[in-house]
Amino acid sequence: MLVDFETCCELLKNGSVVAIHTETVYGLAANALCPTAVKKIYQTKGRPAQNPLIVHILNSARARSLAFTNEYFFSLAEEFWPGPLTFILESKDIVPKITTGGLNTIALRSPESDVFRNVLRKTNLPLAAPSANPTNKLSPTTAQHVLDNFKSDCPKVLDGGSCREGIESTVLDISKGKPRILRPGPVDPHDIENHLGQKVEITHLKSNDGKSPGNSLTHYSPITPTKVFLNQTKLLAEINSSKDQIFIFPFGKMCKSPKRPNILVISESNSREELLRNLYSTLHDADKKNLAAINICLLPPTCNQYVVYNDRIKRAGTIIN
Ligand code: TXA
Ligand code: MG
Repeated sequence: MLVDFETCCELLKNGSVVAIHTETVYGLAANALCPTAVKKIYQTKGRPAQNPLIVHILNSARARSLAFTNEYFFSLAEEFWPGPLTFILESKDIVPKITTGGLNTIALRSPESDVFRNVLRKTNLPLAAPSANPTNKLSPTTAQHVLDNFKSDCPKVLDGGSCREGIESTVLDISKGKPRILRPGPVDPHDIENHLGQKVEITHLKSNDGKSPGNSLTHYSPITPTKVFLNQTKLLAEINSSKDQIFIFPFGKMCKSPKRPNILVISESNSREELLRNLYSTLHDADKKNLAAINICLLPPTCNQYVVYNDRIKRAGTIIN
């Protein structure tokens, strides 16, 4: 059910969960300092207790009470906050262990969405918020996706329209000094490197190294079995094989054949930003058709957007070699 702003803030202050718009994906929010409220997030999502949550705050000054901040943090927060960059820092004792999945570190992000920021201002609470989807399902980029995902068990939703980025934040670990990207996202590692004037380690291209517990290799998947082809040529070769399967092309220019009901294009205008913005909504649309399989392909990793796209697509299905 949708709720208005005032009701949303009251619910959060009383220890309930509410799904709220952010500029990346909708987040399932609750008071990060209240263990019983945070427990409801894990229960609603069916999320394993060892998978920590991102805590959302208004600005970098608010981080001091929750985490041991450092120079990397203040320099990068000034450049990239508010926005889709999450920092991992050493946590202070005030943060309940349930929020950090038992870790000594905490994930912090200052979202750019006015809807979310107004809730942070009004409640004056740090809000823990993972993506508002049942664990291992697709992240929601509209209020309708949240309602569709949870059906009759749906939490309250504060609608803020569709999400501008459409993809989860970049996660950067600066808790051990040397910056490391744990999850690729809208903020490009090259921009972080240029800002810092030093190299940033990229860990997500290796398999799950256990450092970001939620970044497992199966994640973000549609209900429909999903086949991931290595490139566009291999996807095109399959296109006539089966009428009861759906084919998703990243860009309009890749799909020259006449449009059919079982073909979806993520970005008709061939834009990299739109590729990420529309990725999950296209997968949601494909899933709703209830066909036998979804077929999709990887892109050459020549820019950050394609790296992020490939990361999420690989987690959505099975790679066909
Ligand atoms: O854009 C986003 O980040 C969205 C919106 C709602 O802010 N949130 C989001 O949350 O994607 P979630 O829970 O779906 O993903 C958080 C990721 C998980 O992979 C989790 O394991 C990792 O961040 N994470 C959280 N705390 C961590 C920590 N202390 N150390 C390492 N990884 C952590
Ligand atoms: Mg998630």
